[in-house]
Amino acid sequence: MFRLAHVTDPHFRGYSGFGPGDLANKRAIGLANLVINRSRHHKMKLLEALRIDLRQQAPDHLALTGDLSNIALEGEWRAALAWIDMCGVPPEAITVIPGNHDAYVPAVVAARTFERLFAAYMASDLPRDPAGADYPFVHLRDQVALIGVSSAVPTGDLGAWGRIGEQQLARLAALLAAPELADKVRVVLVHHPPVLHRPGEERNLRDRDGLGAVLARAGADLVLHGHDHADQKAELPGPDGRKIPVIGGGSASYGGRPERRARWNIYEIEGRSITCVTRAHDESADTFREVLA
Ligand SMILES: [Fe+2]
Repeated sequence: MFRLAHVTDPHFRGYSGFGPGDLANKRAIGLANLVINRSRHHKMKLLEALRIDLRQQAPDHLALTGDLSNIALEGEWRAALAWIDMCGVPPEAITVIPGNHDAYVPAVVAARTFERLFAAYMASDLPRDPAGADYPFVHLRDQVALIGVSSAVPTGDLGAWGRIGEQQLARLAALLAAPELADKVRVVLVHHPPVLHRPGEERNLRDRDGLGAVLARAGADLVLHGHDHADQKAELPGPDGRKIPVIGGGSASYGGRPERRARWNIYEIEGRSITCVTRAHDESADTFREVLA
């Protein structure tokens, strides 16, 4: 059995190296929002408790599906890297993709700061085509293939929408059909939900239909996403009438009400069988526990 942990939307805080030059435009608004709202809702002590729970559960692999930061500050990503270093999962067993908050300002995206900092967790086991493309990439681990897709783009406004883009979708279609993946359980990782759960084009994946078409043609065994800070379950049509489970995880650091409180998922993969267990923070006991369905 292969045990895959899924952690998403931790929204780490960290201000090392932060200067006034970082406070431009959208980021200034984001920082004000962060100070007022996010520090109230997203608790770093819950990330610490989750880290301890993750260590105890000792999964075979960890997938982090974005929004590691709030306003794409290097200090926030350094806090995420420190957490990753201490989570008890070896680097080769960790896959990381970005979310919309990790693409908060165009200059940081253009500089590929996220890709440089998290390079150890997004090296591809198959050659990238073209060579300079960061996404998608693939991790081949035992019977599982983890495919990292990026839907993170600078939105140029206060939007939280995502886009994969036609070129990346074409590369994804080719990768899913690669002979090296033929016998693998293919797990696609993408930050934004590829289905519409909550209304509003300002916050959703704009080319979700394009991703759906690729999955309908090429197939996949599981799609994992974050973004909405809630447990979400859906299905997309796959080839030959098969259904592809699409599962969203809640935020790893949310400190609010029990049904959305900080949580993570463990997938137990055995052959083609996949089962999911959610572990959420229990405020009264101050520990993570399995959530009973
Ligand atoms: Fe997000």
